[in-house]
Amino acid sequence: MCGIVGYVGERKAQDVLLKGLSRLEYRGYDSAGIAVLEARKINLIKRQGKLRILANVLKAGPAKGTVGIGHTRWATHGVPNDVNAHPHADCTGKIAIVHNGIIENYLDLKASLIKEGHKFRSKTDTEIIAHLIEKYYKGNLEQAVLKTVKLLKGSYAIAAIHANEPDKVVGARCDSPLIVGLGKGENFLASDVPAVLDYTKDVLYPDNHEIITITKTGAIVKNYTGRVVSKRPSRIKWDIKQAEKAGYEHFMLKEIYEQGDIVGGILDERLHDGKVLFEELNINQGAFKHFKKIVIVACGTAYHAGLTGKYMLEEYTHIPCWVDTSSEFRYRDPIVDKETLVIIISQSGETADSLAALREAKRKGARTLGICNVVGSSIAREADGVIYTHAGPEIAVASTKAYTAQLAILYLLTLYLARLKKTLPPSRISYLIKEFRKAPSLMEELLNEHKSEYNNIAAYAGEFKKYYHEKHNKSYFLYLGRNINYPNALEGALKLKEISYISAEGYPAGEMKHGPIALIDENPWVVCIVTQSKTYDKMLSNIQEIKARGGIVIAITTEGDKEILHHNVNYLIEVPKIDELFSPLLVVIPLQLLAYYVAKEFGYDIDQPRNLAKSVTVE
Ligand code: AGP
Repeated sequence: MCGIVGYVGERKAQDVLLKGLSRLEYRGYDSAGIAVLEARKINLIKRQGKLRILANVLKAGPAKGTVGIGHTRWATHGVPNDVNAHPHADCTGKIAIVHNGIIENYLDLKASLIKEGHKFRSKTDTEIIAHLIEKYYKGNLEQAVLKTVKLLKGSYAIAAIHANEPDKVVGARCDSPLIVGLGKGENFLASDVPAVLDYTKDVLYPDNHEIITITKTGAIVKNYTGRVVSKRPSRIKWDIKQAEKAGYEHFMLKEIYEQGDIVGGILDERLHDGKVLFEELNINQGAFKHFKKIVIVACGTAYHAGLTGKYMLEEYTHIPCWVDTSSEFRYRDPIVDKETLVIIISQSGETADSLAALREAKRKGARTLGICNVVGSSIAREADGVIYTHAGPEIAVASTKAYTAQLAILYLLTLYLARLKKTLPPSRISYLIKEFRKAPSLMEELLNEHKSEYNNIAAYAGEFKKYYHEKHNKSYFLYLGRNINYPNALEGALKLKEISYISAEGYPAGEMKHGPIALIDENPWVVCIVTQSKTYDKMLSNIQEIKARGGIVIAITTEGDKEILHHNVNYLIEVPKIDELFSPLLVVIPLQLLAYYVAKEFGYDIDQPRNLAKSVTVE
């Protein structure tokens, strides 16, 4: 996934583009570049490496001009280097383009362009777009872009400039996000809202197969037949401060600490007099009564939220629920129909596999519901109904606040359906709501309490690092959980591996004897989720099995649990007491913090881990 920005206005384009790209760096950060129009010439500067490398080059030799485009890259085709960085130019150097997505038929297009004499510089799929615009340019950039995009297969969000038309930027999108920022005497194109929020809160959301021409005075959106499409501007409700670190060392730590607030905000927004409100749901209650099964589809952390959702939905609504990764669901000819509710969970709302899974579910006649964080994202707009998590922008690649926000929405959906289908008596529903309402303050308490000897997670991370090197870098992590906290074992492992690059695996604890126990010697650190639950005693037995084989145990247990003290665990982390149903909201916090502090100990780039991107908008 990459980030693109376009600008037309009165400001120095270079400053606007660099600022916009800095807000989009979470989308990709292996190279960056800008192209600025000045006196009918394009000044194109691009560099491998993080944005700050490009910024230093531009400090020494600024690009003048008030119209331009910019790009920050997560490489798909062509290694990250100066040549493969975007923007890309045509043969004449009069055209420059930036692109987020994958052009699947680029090799055929490239072969015919080479036959026609075009000279290519890079190994990217993107460069063919610049040469196609050059081929079709007859004095009108919008027309040339329109002819070009009709030939493209795959996903794209592009922005293009031409030296002969120095007052405009032309964009187009298909399956990659692109928004329009509407300013006074200036307008913007960008992959995501944070890139324009320093200048405007008014945005347009173009749909797939729409082309946008921005000038200083306006933004015109047309469909691919050339007809103007009117778009109602949306006003962004949050401000750019929420997309900044606000004094935290990393976005990830800030977003971990925001979780209590966000879950509290979700409850305040959606729970009124014991009733759950989903205004934007757009699926009527009657339909909900007739669903014979629920299928939850997602990737990564969102998938783990879905797995947790299965436990609550089946237990409290009695609707059979299965959970699938988007990439498996979309290729498996899934058995879904009009009596199936398919829920797609996606923070970005742009994950390629999840978007494809949504389309497959719709093709098969299922009703589809998106649980998304990014307003106006593709999944949010293409699903039959949507519930926004309103967690604010999640900048760190490792998802944290989006996960607990997704859990909160799933709990509310469970209560909503249980009331609708009368699978729970009102008294039970009010008890659960009362318990649920405790969660935000308990999350805050857990995050802000004084670091007692039990909860000194940063120190545990330091001890792991020492141990890791003593064991000649052979140590790793196993995460074990049961029932509704089993998905948290998977989530804890994912958090650790994606930011500390240390091998980590999550497992249902009951599976230990079916294989993983063979791994147990003094090497692995085994995180056991052993909070108060119906499977508490079983977890204690697992801990005994591990200790008997020399394993090191970090136990996550309920505050005040005395029994655990007799089980000789190496490290203890306590979470406040809450009904088992809601315990995943608390248990995940030490798992997130453990991953954070281990990665910090190893000195890695926590917000922008290697090889990853915030949203995987390519397959
Ligand atoms: C989670 O920390 C990862 N960044 C990744 O697994 C992520 O959850 C996954 O790519 C799904 O993203 P989405 O929620 O935007 O669809």
